[in-house]
Amino acid sequence: MSDRHSLRLEANQQKQGKVSWLSPSNLAIVKYWGKHGRQLPRNASISFTLDKAHSKTSIAYQIKSDSTDSDIKVKFRFHKEENEAFANRIKKFFASIKDLFPFIDQLEFTIDSENTFPHSSGIASSASGMSVLALGLCDIEQQLFGTLSDDSDFYTKASHVARLGSGSACRSVYPYMASWGVHPDITDSSDEHATVFQEELHDVFKSFHDDILIVSASEKSVSSTAGHALMEGNPYAAARYQQAQDRMHDLIIALKEGDLQSFGKIAEDEALTLHALMMCSDPSYMLVEPNTIAIINELRAYRHETNHPVYFSLDAGPNIHLLYPDHIKDEVVKFRDERLMPLTTGVCIEDQVGTGPKKLS
Ligand code: PMV
Repeated sequence: MSDRHSLRLEANQQKQGKVSWLSPSNLAIVKYWGKHGRQLPRNASISFTLDKAHSKTSIAYQIKSDSTDSDIKVKFRFHKEENEAFANRIKKFFASIKDLFPFIDQLEFTIDSENTFPHSSGIASSASGMSVLALGLCDIEQQLFGTLSDDSDFYTKASHVARLGSGSACRSVYPYMASWGVHPDITDSSDEHATVFQEELHDVFKSFHDDILIVSASEKSVSSTAGHALMEGNPYAAARYQQAQDRMHDLIIALKEGDLQSFGKIAEDEALTLHALMMCSDPSYMLVEPNTIAIINELRAYRHETNHPVYFSLDAGPNIHLLYPDHIKDEVVKFRDERLMPLTTGVCIEDQVGTGPKKLS
């Protein structure tokens, strides 16, 4: 294990290499909203790992010529264009995880990254972007020191590191579904890293659809970081954290049993709770748009008419995640295109539950 190893390169060690990974975004069904300490969650959360919405990143590294230089050296290209602002963010992130990767200031890095979902589509890229960096760094540690050859150690550390970059990113390193945060119903659950929720997951959820309907592609007016911070003064915070723990309990049962009605109710209640918490923060704010609500009403009317198990969720933004099982795909796509797409910007990312990150050759 890495903590018995100094993880420092020997002087004059000639080392260079390159790692490439793909890592997906994720959609929380029970939401993480509120944190403390070093990116620790106030409650447990659980998410679908997505498939199409992902980032691909390669990290080329070489040992610095000047061994006395302790600056963090990062060059960052996003879709082949150098991006100074992102490079600075990554430098700050790398500086903050030197305790986990003590060799980080002995190397210089050239990072090339791209997202497969449309840029400025309103989809948060931090979960895929931070998890892919964490996986890359763990791979570099393994290449240089051989300390992460055990898969479980590798993914646990990748999840831990991703969490330090963006809390929700820690759940992206696992296939299908992953939870994060201590919960009595989940063996080995932890606030430090995510836990895969795969073996007990009913098959119906392994091919679940998540169509992301873009209502607005504008940048959020209040960042998630600011939103988490506002939970500290929210008078409903304690009740919310307890509610999330209780909903985790109920959701886990639904996920094991393939109970779509209970799943859908919790997914929608969680989405609306997240936005209600924003509306009752001080200062209050709203990230939903009129068409977010119009879509929700249309969807609920359709469900009433047809009894089809199709539900919505929301991230910290106005875009709708349309959730439904594969066996009703044709009917839902017809309904979506006729009745929901006119309420969007015309962009829909047809995503679904995916099998997690991949190492690219
Ligand atoms: O990971 P952050 O700090 O961007 O927070 C994201 C929180 C939500 O996406 C709104 C919910 C979640 O659990 O993913």
